[in-house]
Amino acid sequence: MDTKLTDATDIAATLLDRFGPRSVLTDPADTLRYRRDWHGDVEGSAVAVLRPGDTAEASAMVRFCAEHGLAVVPQGGNTGLVLGALPTSARGHVVVSMERMNRIRGIDAADFSAVVEAGCVLAAIKEAGEAEDLFFPLSLGAEGSCQIGGNISTNAGGINVLRYGMTREMILGLEVVLADGTVWNGLSTLRKNNSGLDLKQLFIGAEGTLGLVTAAAIRLVPKPSRVETAFLALADRNDVMALYALARRECCDLLSAFELVPPEGMMLAKEADPTLALPTIAAAPAYALIDVSATGSLDLKPLVERFFELAMERGYVTDGVLAASEAQAADLWQIRDGMNEGQAKRGVHLRTDLSVPPSKVAAFIEEGMQEMALRLPDCLPVAYGHVGDGNIHFNVLPPAGIPREERDAKLALAKKVLNAIVDRYHGGISAEHGIGRLKRDDFAARRSPVQQEILAGIKALLDPRDLFNPGCQIASPRDGTDVTVF
Ligand code: FAD
Ligand code: LAC
Ligand code: ZN
Repeated sequence: MDTKLTDATDIAATLLDRFGPRSVLTDPADTLRYRRDWHGDVEGSAVAVLRPGDTAEASAMVRFCAEHGLAVVPQGGNTGLVLGALPTSARGHVVVSMERMNRIRGIDAADFSAVVEAGCVLAAIKEAGEAEDLFFPLSLGAEGSCQIGGNISTNAGGINVLRYGMTREMILGLEVVLADGTVWNGLSTLRKNNSGLDLKQLFIGAEGTLGLVTAAAIRLVPKPSRVETAFLALADRNDVMALYALARRECCDLLSAFELVPPEGMMLAKEADPTLALPTIAAAPAYALIDVSATGSLDLKPLVERFFELAMERGYVTDGVLAASEAQAADLWQIRDGMNEGQAKRGVHLRTDLSVPPSKVAAFIEEGMQEMALRLPDCLPVAYGHVGDGNIHFNVLPPAGIPREERDAKLALAKKVLNAIVDRYHGGISAEHGIGRLKRDDFAARRSPVQQEILAGIKALLDPRDLFNPGCQIASPRDGTDVTVF
């Protein structure tokens, strides 16, 4: 710990004095929501929560932290699922919440771009785009709370990746406060710019370990004028990727979402919201939730109907619902979104974010299910998600009411078994959520010495004193010990 930091109370008082009560929270009751993860599983601790109102103030705050040896934990909507935004030291960590930096600096419809501050909530950006008949394609269940700065820092994925790519592909430029408080203005809206290394890429997916993102130039697309939503009952879960390939081909590659929903998904969504209207559809081992979308005057209905007919003829699908209205489509999507809330309500569980080559998805799920049935028959495995990208959230829910140690042992075993299958398929342990603090040991065990050396070199260049989010992605002695990260 830095020698200048002697008394956390003094530091908090100095911060309050310097930046004022609107920008600085120190009362533990006021800071609680910034110190707890989305599920409420883990509670951290911090000297203070700073809430800059603009880039100049964000820069002054980071400079203050550098001068006093305080670690900066950047935070957006705090919806991350890997404890990346969790402060872990009441003496040495300061949360910098971007929630007050929520202005849309401008939308340029002619250039299909916008410049937004990092604290803009994703849903607000999407709404502002739609008001100009434009679309920001990043879509995820947390979009009502997560912020674009958090999306950039985790390189978030979501349901539209197969059509539009991850967040990285939607970012044209960035404004970033560096570790000494210097502001790097890289807010270009150019589509093509090969003038040297593309520096913004360093900060995308860095999970706040290299700098504080304060604003972004984003890429927009024309707003789809037609969307068809289908919920299909699969004859056999193993046919899911054959169905996916058929959908892409038959729907002119206009597929924008293809999600696997297990039958337990409907049960969990209903648990989260008992008023949810479930579709009348045959019982099946798995369901696919599909969006096909287009701009202009193309009529998508015949395409989707023909795809459905072919899927039935080939025996992939036994039943299906094509949404007849936007409201029905929203209800179908509510099943998918409600699954997370339903799992959260069940309490502590294993959440994974695994990826394998798309062609291996069915085999991976099959093996995972067999292993779970064999080794953890009293747990509920729930495998779902963005299978079109080869991304499976293979979650495991322990039986209710068992002692904590027993629960943790079961979840640890489930994780070990699933990661071993992933490794055999040369897959990834984090497809879209990032590493944070939760997966840093799993990440460490899988990176090569060369990868490690490059990462350490970049960190040493941009943040030589390890001030930005120490302990996130890579273990650090500056990560506090006030919190045990399971
Ligand atoms: P936070 O949780 O606040 O922070 C995440 C990380 O980014 C932390 O390491 C933090 O330090 C860093 N960070 C935040 N803001 C900044 C900044 N301005 N500058 C530098 N670093 C910063 N994720 C997906 O990818 N796909 C999904 O489909 C998906 N669905 C979800 C559904 C639910 C119900 C929930 C709760 C989460 C879901 N997530 C999903 C995870 C999460 O929403 C995303 O990771 C999101 O991008 C996090 O944004 P945030 O603003 O909440 O970031
Ligand atoms: C989802 C989150 C868990 O896809 O990534 O629902
Ligand atoms: Zn996901």
